Amino acid sequence: MKNWIIVGATSAIAESVCRLWATRGYKLFLVARNEGKLQQIAQDLKVRGAAQVDTFSMDANAFELHGQCFETAQKSMGKVDGIFIAHGTLPDQKACETSFNVARAEIETNALSVISLCTIAANHFEQQRQGDIAVISSVAGDRGRQSNYVYGAAKGMVSVFLQGLRNRLAKSGVHVLTIKPGFVDTPMTASIDKGGPLWASADQVAAGIVKSVDKKCNVVYLPWFWWIIMNIIRHIPEFIFKKMKL
Ligand SMILES: NC(=O)c1ccc[n+]([C@@H]2O[C@H](COP(=O)([O-])OP(=O)(O)OC[C@H]3O[C@@H](n4cnc5c(N)ncnc54)[C@H](OP(=O)(O)O)[C@@H]3O)[C@@H](O)[C@H]2O)c1
Repeated sequence: MKNWIIVGATSAIAESVCRLWATRGYKLFLVARNEGKLQQIAQDLKVRGAAQVDTFSMDANAFELHGQCFETAQKSMGKVDGIFIAHGTLPDQKACETSFNVARAEIETNALSVISLCTIAANHFEQQRQGDIAVISSVAGDRGRQSNYVYGAAKGMVSVFLQGLRNRLAKSGVHVLTIKPGFVDTPMTASIDKGGPLWASADQVAAGIVKSVDKKCNVVYLPWFWWIIMNIIRHIPEFIFKKMKL
């Protein structure tokens, strides 16, 4: 049995991950800002077999509550084995271009809040000499594109931060997993035209996340073919890339 904190527990991908962990009888500490949805998910996970489900209502941008959140999780579950961070927003790129305040808010949600939570978890797990930190970044963080470079920059910051954290914590036996999904059919992408082989469901991505945590992977592209796509995209020379409409 394992005890996990899930931040952004109301996300479609996180909910699917929690369902898989609930069937294993894990203890789950769900963190999200939508109290009604949080309670609904908690009830469902108990029915599915979770050993214990507790909830903590928090906006991820309430940085001052991050420490309290971790301490409450520790008290209610006895011990924290892992933290899974899934919250995020898909910014309106045009709005970010016209207002730095909008861009900054998006970077706070998608990057700085994640870094704050990881810092608390990392220091705790380092002392404990055991723990899992699993964070949803994105393929968008692998290369800046005109269509969503503010989101990409925030996710890129998370990916590089996790890379350094993994390097620091390897000697302490703490596992850090960077999750890079491609296109996933969730409420976040509700306004985007879907269809085609590149789109995955939240359940598909969740199964990949659970497997990657079990196998102690370092970085995972989900589905796997995004590793090939992003390798190609990353290697396009900048003088060609800047003329492409991506
Ligand atoms: N969908 C994709 O194509 C895709 C691709 C790559 C990466 N990702 C990443 O996957 C993760 C999960 O997203 P998803 O696809 O499952 O979309 P989703 O269902 O829309 O989930 C996003 C979640 O983030 C939460 N959230 C946003 N801002 C928050 C804040 N300030 N405080 C607390 N919670 C906040 C939302 O809570 P509310 O319900 O309260 O709004 C929602 O539960 C995100 O990090 C996203 O960037 C998604």
